Amino acid sequence: RYRDQGAADKMNPFAEQEAWEEHQIGKATMKYGSKNKKQISDDYQFVFEDQIDFIKASVMGGENIDDEEATELLEKSMAKSALEKLQEDRKSLPIYPYRDQLLQAIEDHQILVIVGETGSGKTTQIPQYLHEAGYTKRGKIGCTQPRRVAAMSVAARVSQEMGVKLGHEVGYSIRFEDCTSEKTVLKYMTDGMLLREFLGEPDLESYSVVMVDEAHERTLSTDILFGLVKDIARFRPDLKLLISSATLDAEKFSDYFDSAPIFKFPGRRYPVEIHYTKAPEADYLDAAIVTVLQIHVTQELGDILVFFTGQEEIETAEEIIKHRIRGLGTKIAELIICPIYANLPTELQAKIFEATPEGARKVVLATNIAETSLTIDGIKYVIDPGFCKMKSYNPRTGMESLLIAPVSKASANQRAGRAGRTGPGKCFRLYTAYNYYNDMEDNTIPEIQRTNLANVVLSLKSLGIHDLINFDFMDPPPSEALLKALELLFALSALNKLGELTKVGRRMAEFPLDPMLSKAIVASDNYKCSDEMISIAAMLSVGNSIFYRPKDKQVHADNARMNFHTGNVGDHIALLKVYNSWKETNYSTQWCYENYIQVRSMKRARDIRDQLEGLLERVEIEVTSNASDLEPIKKAITSGFFPHSARLQKNGSYRTVKHPQTVHIHPSSGLAQILPRWVIYHELVLTTKEYMRQNLNYR
Ligand code: CDP
Ligand code: MG
Repeated sequence: RYRDQGAADKMNPFAEQEAWEEHQIGKATMKYGSKNKKQISDDYQFVFEDQIDFIKASVMGGENIDDEEATELLEKSMAKSALEKLQEDRKSLPIYPYRDQLLQAIEDHQILVIVGETGSGKTTQIPQYLHEAGYTKRGKIGCTQPRRVAAMSVAARVSQEMGVKLGHEVGYSIRFEDCTSEKTVLKYMTDGMLLREFLGEPDLESYSVVMVDEAHERTLSTDILFGLVKDIARFRPDLKLLISSATLDAEKFSDYFDSAPIFKFPGRRYPVEIHYTKAPEADYLDAAIVTVLQIHVTQELGDILVFFTGQEEIETAEEIIKHRIRGLGTKIAELIICPIYANLPTELQAKIFEATPEGARKVVLATNIAETSLTIDGIKYVIDPGFCKMKSYNPRTGMESLLIAPVSKASANQRAGRAGRTGPGKCFRLYTAYNYYNDMEDNTIPEIQRTNLANVVLSLKSLGIHDLINFDFMDPPPSEALLKALELLFALSALNKLGELTKVGRRMAEFPLDPMLSKAIVASDNYKCSDEMISIAAMLSVGNSIFYRPKDKQVHADNARMNFHTGNVGDHIALLKVYNSWKETNYSTQWCYENYIQVRSMKRARDIRDQLEGLLERVEIEVTSNASDLEPIKKAITSGFFPHSARLQKNGSYRTVKHPQTVHIHPSSGLAQILPRWVIYHELVLTTKEYMRQNLNYR
């Protein structure tokens, strides 16, 4: 399939071995840094047993120390040396030689644009440098990340490097999860969370430095933050503002921030050979899997990173690879499969950073998250099918969908770069060179130009920013999209006809949810069913991971799911039934197993629900319940989601009411076989057809 240029021969095998050993030590020590016994994997257990006996024997008096205490002692001593090792690791990062220059530049300028290769240490080191230089005496250092997984994992890493417990001096804050405390001085958070902090603290007084990281990603929240931080920097001369990016076209950021200086430092990048396919691939998923196996069988050891568009693809690929590997017999090296995507449970996220055992190979199946947000050491081969999931928004119809779209050249180059971090690497592009040069865009279009703005407009309005047309956007959104957002907020009674925030709107803005869902909650006050509505909102917020549907037990799983659909009232009510039944069993895990429900998702729903309950109190809405009557619940949902109504057509498809368009009930919906005359859908997803997911039967 590929031309192999045999570049591997030119490499120094010893250098690689040394690097590998160092990597091993680095990772092993990271574990002890976390001080959690349960996390210490079996690999280290046997070393432990020997040493524990030794410690027991050498403790004075000897007789009264048990295994547990000995383990603790051992861990303490290891944690100390782990810390020393981590400190050395920090010094080997490309950013380290520029530490003093960088601190000087920050001292000299209020706003600084920082550019450095992915993995060079911007995210983990700069906040620590600032802390060491005393900035945290004046206030917190906030560092934003476009992705929640990145915020969490970077905070975890930095807390290890500083030898402190995560959530104490170093913490993170993502939607529905605040892992910070009074003590926190380095705060990693999603860009969306910092945006919400403006609501409570419009001048960000508690911060001495704000670092808008991964600026090149140009997410909607990052773009809005640009405007807000630029504004507060004018009347807060003591606030330092850092804009950091992994791409080289930093002039745009500099221009926007009144010609702020650019601090560029060189990264370390080994050559990466790029291979293209000779002809376009009909099925990139299959092509990617075949390529993984080809590399595994024919290429020397070194980890593989494959970019997929989402969780479903990753799970499918994982299953197929496992299956095909079994068919290859026992002679080949072990292949360890590590998936990583936004909804991956935290316990499993750590796995991708674990060192690959000797003689084995790791293959990381990742979404875009591994493009620049997360750095995984030891990657030598990158497989890039050339696609990602992208939001697209039609301002005319107000319809938003997630599409699988080709990546930009900038993204493709970032992806390839992941193969050359620790040594020379190879990147296999599953598209042709012609495609790359002629069809792919240079850069990804900023999210602000292809998304629904209702949420952002509501936030800006509650910050007192009324003149949205003249807001200082780096790249303005289409004015149609702004108008659409205003129109929707008006229809939801969040704005009055002068465009001012109403009481309803002010209440809605407190909820970190889509305005339609916030409205449904606020409206549930009138219908005396806020208790039920927040359960439904929490279940919807978890995403599509409530029901578990293993391939070999699909029939059982589907039957179990349909048990929650009595009365055919639709998916919202089924979710409510799931939640309430689980609650009745006193949140039983066993019950989840029996009903093919993912216990982890349920726990998350419970957690989100608790937070929504807290917010209800804040906006002075009483928790009221109406268990015997579903009608009020349906009304509350409808007062938020009426723009999402659709009517059945003769051929079994549906027609949306507001902007007529043909849509279908998603096969996973409990109403897929019922086909009610009217439905209200939660969201549209475009796969093979335009599907409505999570539907309410509105007879
Ligand atoms: O932000 P930037 O891409 O410049 O780099 P970084 O995220 O600060 O990462 C610096 C180094 O820290 C990487 O090379 C990783 O080896 C390491 N790191 C890690 O081991 N685990 C993490 N969760 C994050 C970073
Ligand atoms: Mg970074």
